[in-house]
Amino acid sequence: MNKIFVSRRIPAAGIEMLERAGAEVRIGQEREDEGVAPAVMLDGIRWCDVMVSLLTEPIDHALLAANPKLRGVAQYAVGFNNIDVASATALGLPVSNTPDVLTDSTADLTWALLLAAARRIPEAQDYMKAGRYKLWGPNLLLGADVSPGGNSKRKVLGIIGYGRIGAAVAKRATGFDMDVIAYDPHARAQVEASGIATWADLDDLLERSDFVSLHPLLTKETHHLINESALKRMKTSAVLVNVSRGPVVDEVALVRALNEGWIGGAALDVFEHEPAMADGLSECRNAVLVPHIASASVGTRDKMATMAAENALAHLRGERAPNVVNADVYSSAAYRERVARFSQGT
Ligand code: DGY
Repeated sequence: MNKIFVSRRIPAAGIEMLERAGAEVRIGQEREDEGVAPAVMLDGIRWCDVMVSLLTEPIDHALLAANPKLRGVAQYAVGFNNIDVASATALGLPVSNTPDVLTDSTADLTWALLLAAARRIPEAQDYMKAGRYKLWGPNLLLGADVSPGGNSKRKVLGIIGYGRIGAAVAKRATGFDMDVIAYDPHARAQVEASGIATWADLDDLLERSDFVSLHPLLTKETHHLINESALKRMKTSAVLVNVSRGPVVDEVALVRALNEGWIGGAALDVFEHEPAMADGLSECRNAVLVPHIASASVGTRDKMATMAAENALAHLRGERAPNVVNADVYSSAAYRERVARFSQGT
């Protein structure tokens, strides 16, 4: 029987698809609030033919190399920065992910965060729930304009990272009559062809934007892209939104920026050392903080599960996975050797 190790339990639709295909499924960690112990990961990867991974477990070279007959790694997420993909490719191991399906839910959450920070929704809710609302007043919980508002001045949304999610965030901005500018060194043509966003260099974007929304992949180039000097370039009223990956922002510098008024506010779904937060972040009145829930809607998570299962089954059959992220692997000698090993059961 083919064996699939799922590091942490994913929605039933995905598990059922694997079981219907005749696979034996082992779950590494059943608890929702605990990661998978390294020894369990190692044991699971050695035991299985294919692994379904979550973004909470680092999958490094040693782990990938621990099973020479492993057929593939199917990540249950669009992001895969927890996996050493270069090592996987060198080892002849295909890696896949779950793109597209979470674009809308992530763009929706981006806007929920942007609006919550601009209009101070969490503070307003705390105020209500504490029974402090005694009388309506003209200055009660004043927030920032998002649409042009009373002064008819269009607000500028700066999008950093113009892939699928960045573009979906831009599309939603048209409903708020915003001017959208975007920076992405890998997608200048897409920005220019979008009909919604106009191109801006990074410094220009930081200086002009009322809202800066982050959507790049986490790479060596984007690690701490938003650091002290970037934060100091932003308007003192600007709101920073991050639904990409925590380390894109230097979180210690961000706490200073929020406390010392370099920027107006921040709304974060992801954290540099997740699940921990930088000292002082949770005390910042002008920070809206949620626990990495951008794709957390029922339909999206179910679809991610079936996509991960489809990818896993393709890995199992030795076929090209629909969402492979290292497609070059299929033409490598290392992959051919791996296929020979698992086909002959050696
Ligand atoms: C992803 O898919 O990369 C998100 O961060 C979690 O769904």
